[in-house]
Amino acid sequence: MKLLSKIALFGAFTLCNLLGADQKIEAQIEELLSQMTLEEKVRMCHAQSKFSAAGVSRIGVPELWLSDGPHGVRPEIAWDSWSHAGWTNDFCTAFPALTCLAATFNPELSYEYGVALGEESLYREKDIILGPGVNIYRTPLNGRNFEYMGEDPYLASQMVVPYVQGVQSNGVAACVKHLVLNNQEHWRHEVNVEISERALREIYLPAFKAAIVEGGAWSVMGAYNLFRGQHCCHNELLLNHILKDEWGFDGIVVSDWGGTYDTTEAALYGLDLEMGTGTNGLTFSEDNAYDNYYLALPFLDKIKKGEISESVLDDKVRRLLRLRLRTNMDRSRGFGRMMCEDHSRVARSVATEGMVLLKNENDFFPLDAGASITIAVIGENATRMMTIGGGSSELKAKYEISPLEGIQKRFKNAKIVHSMGYGSGESDYDVVLPSPYDAEALKKDALEVAANADFVLFFGGLNKSHNQDCEGADRLQLGLPFGQDELITDLLKVNPNMAVLLISGNAVEMPWIDEVAAIFQVWYLGSETGYAIADVLSGDVTPSGKLPFTFPKKLEDNPAHRFGEKSYPGIDHEQEYMEDIFVGYRGHDEFGIEPLFPFGFGLSYTDFEISDVTVDDSEIAIDGNIRLRCKLTNTGPVKGAETVQVYVGKSNSKVKRVKKALKGFKKVSVDAGESELVTVTIPVKDLAYYETASKSWVVETGDYRLWVGNSSASGMSKTFRVK
Ligand code: BGC
Repeated sequence: MKLLSKIALFGAFTLCNLLGADQKIEAQIEELLSQMTLEEKVRMCHAQSKFSAAGVSRIGVPELWLSDGPHGVRPEIAWDSWSHAGWTNDFCTAFPALTCLAATFNPELSYEYGVALGEESLYREKDIILGPGVNIYRTPLNGRNFEYMGEDPYLASQMVVPYVQGVQSNGVAACVKHLVLNNQEHWRHEVNVEISERALREIYLPAFKAAIVEGGAWSVMGAYNLFRGQHCCHNELLLNHILKDEWGFDGIVVSDWGGTYDTTEAALYGLDLEMGTGTNGLTFSEDNAYDNYYLALPFLDKIKKGEISESVLDDKVRRLLRLRLRTNMDRSRGFGRMMCEDHSRVARSVATEGMVLLKNENDFFPLDAGASITIAVIGENATRMMTIGGGSSELKAKYEISPLEGIQKRFKNAKIVHSMGYGSGESDYDVVLPSPYDAEALKKDALEVAANADFVLFFGGLNKSHNQDCEGADRLQLGLPFGQDELITDLLKVNPNMAVLLISGNAVEMPWIDEVAAIFQVWYLGSETGYAIADVLSGDVTPSGKLPFTFPKKLEDNPAHRFGEKSYPGIDHEQEYMEDIFVGYRGHDEFGIEPLFPFGFGLSYTDFEISDVTVDDSEIAIDGNIRLRCKLTNTGPVKGAETVQVYVGKSNSKVKRVKKALKGFKKVSVDAGESELVTVTIPVKDLAYYETASKSWVVETGDYRLWVGNSSASGMSKTFRVK
């Protein structure tokens, strides 16, 4: 660094000591900016490798390093290709995928998750971790649902804020993705989404807004798809008007990898950092191919010609400097830690709290961990590693305990016999290729093993391959793949004492639902998978997870699929979200369709009763709070946790409204035979609908109804008035 600029920097830092933290940062930004050449500023706005962007070392501005995200720190990727870099020290703790985190309905745990993930990111010297994902679960076919937080904007908002705060408490930026309407993988680069302003504001944007306005997220990733004819990575309405002007976002917008298409649009419509644009690798010319990015030399050229004002560039650079001053230029930033016991503990807590018990006839679970019983563990997913695959969220886990291993370790007196039962096939260009396994032989073995067992545990579901729970394509069907339905039916014939454990991030069809004794929705649980499963199956932990999305009985029952091709997947890349605000349970209510399992549903090994529901005042001021109280009694045999959920609806509304929407919840742990008083407070302003004509949120006065229960389909109702 030149002596003069060193002195200037020193001066800036001295001045900064007299100012508050934010003012200090702003003063440093101006000081640094004033020293940068046009070329240096432009160089900061685009990638220099697959996962890094250049700084200005001459004045002490470091590079920026990014990594996926969102449930662990991805293995290192090569400088200029998608191959793994082949490091031997890039293992991580694999945390449960975000559907599982959402299913915990436990915001405090989400904070711990964020802290632990942030610590791992920091240890690996990352400045931005590319997560969390909060795209709304619109269709069960979306291959990336497992990376997101379910179908309800309120739940996703409550869970995303602490995640962001936890990550950023380490001086690592969270990157909330993918803004917005990236709700399917099919045609993700081409599809143009049309949607009403109301559905956009009420359903698809709230979790992003919460992450930014309440969580204070320092970065956001644009989506691949188009919205109203403009790519989301340079979308004037989304990025300039909503994100930056309305929400006051002062961080950076990162493009999705290869999601930038035009220099002028990228410059003017909100993009700050261009990543992943296709290049000819390092062979393009003697110059670095990254110079050919839209926000590289073509951008510089337009500024030099006066076609784009330098102030546009300065705004981006200020943001990029602010991000660094919050992360790698923050001299109080620590070093993080990796793969430690604390992180395993967080991963295990989230995994055990997220598993959802969907059916448990005759108390099939918990299984007696001390008993000398024979347990048949059947299914490919009992041993398959699920941290591998899935696309950009792939991980190189330090360890991953399989369900089989977890069960073997916990049920020491039992005879555990495993049989693969079925074998998955890979899929190519949306065609499932034949499985390389001999299906008949696998089935024969499984039937023999099951017939001779006391208990059968079938581990099936989806996996992280193409056309399953995986980036880049959607699922091809709602039903289970690889002949699992037939296998389950045949297994039931030889031994009906059987539970199905579904490992997936998505709803599946269950034609055998009435015949099986028990069902668990297990999710992708990461490193601690087997231990967490054994904790819950043995009753060491009482299950308390709740579904963060509705399970439909059949695909057409899902609101997005009711309206045919135009609604999903679109026609000729043009798509309209025709179910509008009636997403998930809102649509099941509206169209009178009974779900297989409702949003918010999940059983326990104990029983709960909600009683004595009261609303403090029957008339509430428009700027007041609804305070609801109830008694939660554990009437069953063991300690457990229940999530009291409050849904609110407006009768006689001026506009079309959903019957009810989640507006508050509280997860409470109660000892057997004990009661707890539960209070849920809901600000009346949260009952607003978005009025398109006036572009504002409107709270109606008049009568409302609320439901208090333990799923979206249960509950006692009460009325109150807003005046
Ligand atoms: C994904 C992003 C991811 C990025 C970098 C893209 O294909 O959509 O979620 O962060 O790649 O790997």
